[in-house]
Amino acid sequence: MCGIVGYVGPKQALPVLINGLKRLEYRGYDSAGVAVLTDHHVEVRKSVGRLSVLEGRLEGDAPKGHTGIGHTRWATHGRPSDVNAHPHGDCSGRFVVVHNGIIENFRGLKEWLVSEGHIFKSETDTEVVPHLIEHYYSGDLADAVREAASRLRGSFALAVASSEEPDRLIAVRRDSPLIVGLGEGEQFIASDVPAILEHTRRAYILEDGEMADVTAESVEVTDLKGEAKKKKPFIVKWDPVQAERGGYPHFMLKEIHEQPKAFRDTLTGRVATNRKSVKLDELTLTPEKIKGLRKVFITAAGTAYHAGLVGKYLFERLARLPVEVDLASEYRYRDPILNPDDTLVIVVSQSGETADTLAAMRESQARGVHALAITNVVGSSVAREADDVIHTWAGPEIAVASTKAYTTQILLLTLLAVHFGQVRGTLDEARAEKVLKELVELPQKARDLLSKEEAIADFARRCAAWKDVFFIGRGLDYAVSLEGQLKLKEISYIHAEAYAAGELKHGTLALVVEGVPVIALSTQNDLREKMISNIREVKARDAFVLGIAPEGSGAEEMRHHCDQLIAIPETDGLVAPALAVIPLQLLAYHAAVARGCDVDKPRNLAKSVTVE
Ligand code: M6R
Repeated sequence: MCGIVGYVGPKQALPVLINGLKRLEYRGYDSAGVAVLTDHHVEVRKSVGRLSVLEGRLEGDAPKGHTGIGHTRWATHGRPSDVNAHPHGDCSGRFVVVHNGIIENFRGLKEWLVSEGHIFKSETDTEVVPHLIEHYYSGDLADAVREAASRLRGSFALAVASSEEPDRLIAVRRDSPLIVGLGEGEQFIASDVPAILEHTRRAYILEDGEMADVTAESVEVTDLKGEAKKKKPFIVKWDPVQAERGGYPHFMLKEIHEQPKAFRDTLTGRVATNRKSVKLDELTLTPEKIKGLRKVFITAAGTAYHAGLVGKYLFERLARLPVEVDLASEYRYRDPILNPDDTLVIVVSQSGETADTLAAMRESQARGVHALAITNVVGSSVAREADDVIHTWAGPEIAVASTKAYTTQILLLTLLAVHFGQVRGTLDEARAEKVLKELVELPQKARDLLSKEEAIADFARRCAAWKDVFFIGRGLDYAVSLEGQLKLKEISYIHAEAYAAGELKHGTLALVVEGVPVIALSTQNDLREKMISNIREVKARDAFVLGIAPEGSGAEEMRHHCDQLIAIPETDGLVAPALAVIPLQLLAYHAAVARGCDVDKPRNLAKSVTVE
């Protein structure tokens, strides 16, 4: 995720900004930039690549001044480049802005601003903000930012500086974190605590819709109507390492908890306001091409492959398209039957750099097949080479075990399946509307589910001594079970296997004996009866069964057959995977912690596997 730093005070701003940005490097970024107010001018320096590249450019050309803002960018709109790096400015060069988040309505605003004569330089959503401020400015920066912010839809944390008022910074947020560090005769703005820790441990945590008017001597917080807000400073007690993880003990747990935000960001602007259709502006596949498809291949590795398995059910159910899901390492050598006229290959990869996935995509393209990529990294090899690319906006994933990337991949596959179903006429309006409504409610439901973490953690601690675990499910629950067993294996080193529940009796039951733990997923109402029969099979052999089912009748039915039950919020069966996997992620995490494992860096695994 992007990082923001701002400074106003007696010191030279540049070293403070660069040091602050260095403290945020762990979050991942692709470009960096700073703006310093110098003699009533705004001096901007920015560069694609690491901070060290920016520092190189600053050598002998370092702007001097006491007020400034800085940014490390993780690209969403527009590839990583010098021009797309922040800060962004207006036409007159008087206003500069750094931004975290996604401006959902930037296209409409940009069109309007261009019609008003504004000239844009970058491909970013952010650039509308300085132009809006320029448009509204009439002598007071806070007023102009307030007006501009009221025009924005989506999420934002903004830090704004202006040569018109060089001793003042404005910070404003909605749905993206922002703090004001309180010093003695100097103040700081930051998206995250580590950026300010070497200067102060006192900070105002801005809430949604709050704006801070910051000078060296004062910080005034108001709402977006200008009403004053009384704030109590937050005293940061974390050490620098804890602060990097936002107070969480591990990145994996932080990332599990970031899922509601990752869901919301990934859905931003992609569901029509009337919730009746999908808007995938980045898709170049024409309706004619979608209608003419006869076959889809999904190819990926590891967790992304498991997301592909969820995608298969969704595409087959909603778009009535036959789908084959392949491990990329198999696909690339198995000479699949590909007809360029009616076949689509979907490549799923968090990093966009996995060697097997990239090779599978290249192989398909070499044979004339259109490749659509789903990836979390703008500018990655997969993103650059694909014929079509749709990004998950999960933000950087640092823990080796993939969590928020997987659930946002599922979200995008659901949106694509709904879109394809609508274009192909295989999906009626009411069904599409139901699925889209449930998707929009997903961030809140995920938040509700995460609030039950302690119960899951308590159970996981008791599971730490397990040796072998089975996960069972049918349909979409089987696909999620596969991901659940992988998470448990890769970070807790407990042996686990996932089975399609109907397959148990074809051999696996021999391994189910007294006390063997079986995690039984049943989120699909139409398959519950069958699942309960399978649970009975393992209970008859004295297995210990942990059930996962939706609140309400699902949980009630399951409760009688399971030793313990985790109820997840009720949703449409097709949307359930993104929720059902959360208790499995938490189970794996807490079991690993209880076993003393190195959760974020499990043995023998790398975050991005760029070799075969
Ligand atoms: O970056 P990718 O999504 O292409 O990575 C694929 C796998 O290497 C990755 O999902 C791996 O399985 C993770 N460790 C899972 O948590």
